[in-house]
Amino acid sequence: MKIRIPKKRFFIILLTIVLLPVLILFLVVIGRTFTFNLNTELGRWENTTIIYPVLNPEQKDRLLANFKEAIQLPTVSFSETQQNTSALHEFDLLLRRAFPKVFSSSLVKHETISNYSHLFTVTGAEPDLVPYMLLAHIDVVPANEEDGWDAPPFSAKEMNGFIYGRGTIDNKQSVMGILEALEHLLERGYTPRRSFYIGLGHDEEVHGTHGAVNIVKLLKSRGVKLLYVLDKGLTIMDGIIDGLDGPAALIGVSEKGQATVKLTVNTAPGHSSMPPRETSIGILASAVRRLEQIRMPNLFGQGPERATFEQLAHKFGFPHRMVMANLWLFSSLLSGILEGQPDTNAFVRTTTAVTMFNSGVKINVLPPYAEAFVNFRIHSSQTVDEVLKLVESTISDKRVKVELIEGFDPLPISYYNEYTFGYQIIKKTAKDIFPQITVTPGICIGNTDSRHYTELTSNIYRFVPSWYKPGDSARFHGVNERIAIQNYEEIMLFFMQLIQNGDVRNLPLPHT
Ligand SMILES: *[C@@H]1O[C@H](CO)[C@@H](O)[C@H](O)[C@H]1NC(C)=O
Ligand SMILES: *[C@@H]1O[C@H](CO)[C@@H](O)[C@H](O)[C@H]1NC(C)=O
Ligand SMILES: [Zn+2]
Repeated sequence: MKIRIPKKRFFIILLTIVLLPVLILFLVVIGRTFTFNLNTELGRWENTTIIYPVLNPEQKDRLLANFKEAIQLPTVSFSETQQNTSALHEFDLLLRRAFPKVFSSSLVKHETISNYSHLFTVTGAEPDLVPYMLLAHIDVVPANEEDGWDAPPFSAKEMNGFIYGRGTIDNKQSVMGILEALEHLLERGYTPRRSFYIGLGHDEEVHGTHGAVNIVKLLKSRGVKLLYVLDKGLTIMDGIIDGLDGPAALIGVSEKGQATVKLTVNTAPGHSSMPPRETSIGILASAVRRLEQIRMPNLFGQGPERATFEQLAHKFGFPHRMVMANLWLFSSLLSGILEGQPDTNAFVRTTTAVTMFNSGVKINVLPPYAEAFVNFRIHSSQTVDEVLKLVESTISDKRVKVELIEGFDPLPISYYNEYTFGYQIIKKTAKDIFPQITVTPGICIGNTDSRHYTELTSNIYRFVPSWYKPGDSARFHGVNERIAIQNYEEIMLFFMQLIQNGDVRNLPLPHT
């Protein structure tokens, strides 16, 4: 017997086999695009705001005057061994003058660490609540007016509603903002329930080896365990992320690691009239070229960078929103787009930067020696050892010696779920002060003092609510560093609210 399927039937079956999955896929993608929201809200919070975060004109004037004085002190870290100690000493005097309540309250214990760093211990009324800690740093990187500043970098000059000066966004806005918040709360008779610490480092810009390291040593010797640590790091981004509707606050839940690698080539010296096919410079140059050409692997999705986009997905317009709500399908599409720009490429892989290249002494002598330095910033899912192995296999030339000069692994990833106290307190506070923002986890490309705190807590966050608009990230360690006066006031209010929000005994349960 012959079974014959009519031609028409056959086409219908074929179409069904091919088109049905496509249709289902399409519906799933579209459905997720319009319903996807991973940015969950918690239930009702216990209200612990006793002192409402607002300032009257007189308080605003005092706030600004103190801040300007802080900016005017050139607390520069020139190098690990060279700091402006006279400015650091004057900064100490300024703190005592500006914050009389902080320095005299029976609730606050002040200690000087390594001459210029400060540790404040604020004792709460309920000693069984685990304390947290706020960090900031007093030192700044150098600044020269000749580089093109619109105002001298230590003038704190006011222009168009901004204060210009080195340290306005890195990081005296936190130093002064935190202490102003505490001063203000103490003035109003506030007693915290939950104890907390404030750590102000004086050498963050040169690795924190005297300030942060010794503050941690002291706390460790006292058996202190911290619920969470909040340091500077990420900010509120406004108009910076392409396609995103409205501002986003990124809370740093980790920091990239670093490795500085030295590459060297040694060959026999000789005269330039009878050169070999390859000189030490040529050998090293092709090694460096290979490192630049064959980039470290794209690791998008293997660190918290995936969560950044998923938690922002519902705030994007089409088609970004469709992509971010469907990373199960479009992950490689998004990672391909991200690696196209240097600033977003930094999030998806270990970056490679050749920073020094030295060889040769005379125009007619073949140099026997060539060296280059390469700085890697390591993605959360890799280690220093893995990066070194990749460097060797990429160069794959025995004549090039690869040597690790210094390095450290990426920082552990702090929790950021519905049950994580620190993350949720920071998120709630940011939304209390800036109701229009979306809060999401992020990764810090740079490093902070907080990396020394891993033995005291597993939850370290890096965030200050400084507003970054297009172009502002170049001001960081750059020319025309500035802060809007209103933004500085908001930062002070943020810390005032953060301290009060920290008084809840437990987090509310997530909405079901
Ligand atoms: C160091 O700070 C003092 C102010 O305390 C300032 O007068 C001096 O010029 C600064 N020195 C350098 C080298 O910046
Ligand atoms: C503190 O200052 C003194 C005197 O200037 C100096 O001898 C000492 O080394 C400093 N200590 C630290 C830990 O920096
Ligand atoms: Zn800095």
